[in-house]
Amino acid sequence: MSFKVIVLAAGKGTRFKSDLPKVLHKILGKPMLWYVIKAAEKAGAEEIIVVTGHGKDLVENFLKEEKLNAKTVFQKQQLGTGHAVLCAESILKDYDGKVVVLNGDTPLISPEEIKNIASMDGDMIVLTGETENPYGYGRVVRDGKEVLKIVEEKDATEKEKAIREINSGIYAFKTKPLFEALKNLKNDNAQGEYYLPDVLKIFKKRGLKVTAVKTENFNSIMGVNNRHELSKAEKILRERIIKNLQLSGVTIHNPESCYIESEVTVGKDTEIYGPVHIKGKTAIGKRCRIGGFTEIADSVIEDDAEVKSHCHIEKAHLKKGASVGPFSRLREGTVIETGARTGSFVETKKAHLKKGAKANHLTYLGDCTIGENTNIGAGTITCNYDGFNKWRTEIGKNVFVGSNTLFIAPVTVGDNAITAAGSVITKNVPENALAIARAKQVNLEGRAEKIREKNKRKKR
Ligand code: UD1
Ligand code: CA
Repeated sequence: MSFKVIVLAAGKGTRFKSDLPKVLHKILGKPMLWYVIKAAEKAGAEEIIVVTGHGKDLVENFLKEEKLNAKTVFQKQQLGTGHAVLCAESILKDYDGKVVVLNGDTPLISPEEIKNIASMDGDMIVLTGETENPYGYGRVVRDGKEVLKIVEEKDATEKEKAIREINSGIYAFKTKPLFEALKNLKNDNAQGEYYLPDVLKIFKKRGLKVTAVKTENFNSIMGVNNRHELSKAEKILRERIIKNLQLSGVTIHNPESCYIESEVTVGKDTEIYGPVHIKGKTAIGKRCRIGGFTEIADSVIEDDAEVKSHCHIEKAHLKKGASVGPFSRLREGTVIETGARTGSFVETKKAHLKKGAKANHLTYLGDCTIGENTNIGAGTITCNYDGFNKWRTEIGKNVFVGSNTLFIAPVTVGDNAITAAGSVITKNVPENALAIARAKQVNLEGRAEKIREKNKRKKR
């Protein structure tokens, strides 16, 4: 069974009250359109055509950035869903197979449902669903089993409005009769638009075979027309993702407070303590522990690593068995190797902590390498920025960095060296050396006593 797909994405989404076209509004970090295209891809679509209109350039840029394999056609004026489909004729004029039409604002559609209607026999298959609250949807008017028509909310009679079977806006058509029918659509309706669902009546008049199949799962066809519905769809998808992780062997505490985006992967026997935000292309390995109040984006956390609570991790890489937090902030390019750790109030950027290196408290490590088993004392700062350029600090292995050391980069410290607490290191430190770079202490005997007496006299 082969088929092509048209995605309708030209509408403005007036009810979103936004400058951004509706289909680019995001659910769990990805635009609604992304989900629709991914579902079409997974269902095995031969070709995907997106009808753009409002925010055309934004939509095209998005398709390019995400490297989505979709062609676009432009609908200059939004004259209705029927007119939108007709805009794809230029691409499909020599095609005689099946075409599935998807709404860009129905992000929860599953590949299985697309595949199912694409493989069914008939000239037009419309996917429908039943809901307690059909307001706003087109209603499916039947006579017994037979479908008679689809009527939009604004055109429906009171009796029709009471129908709870609704049109999902998702259909499979035989392509040739579809385009013929679209040319005969009229816009004599409440909205003055060319309605795609009206193709149904034309098909029936011509004796073509029309079928309506009702989905068991209404959620998968819910339309998103405003930001309230957007949050509802997001909640459904969030719960779906969390359930899939749980069933694949991940323990999730407080699942209702976990925000985990769709491209995140998590290995089995990992334990996650909500609330957390895990975003982007984050990959978490097996047997990891992710503490609460933590945000992780576009990062790799290898097996057996631990992220304690209150961490913020972005574009970082924790190798097997690394440990960070609580209260660590790891920024882009950070690598924490096996047995290495960062503790509270440690910020890193492009910092590579080699095996067993430790920075346990109150530290900034930027543009630096910290060698194996080196210990960074509290208050250490790599001064990587001189106001114009960024410079590196290279620290060897088994180094002991005393508390409150400042490294004025560029600077290197050899293996097994020690820096005295409070040092401002401006020159390279050779291997095995002790570097002391602070003012010498002077003790003035009895001076404290004198100061006190002087002040007492003043008071009198
Ligand atoms: C549409 C259906 C309705 C169905 C509902 C399901 C019509 C007339 N109505 O209503 O029966 O129950 O979807 O969610 O089809 N679009 C264009 N060009 C246009 C108009 C719309 O590309 O000229 C796109 C929109 O961007 C959107 C999709 O088509 O992605 C549906 O349009 P929308 O205005 O949301 O239709 P609904 O009123 O929801
Ligand atoms: Ca809609």
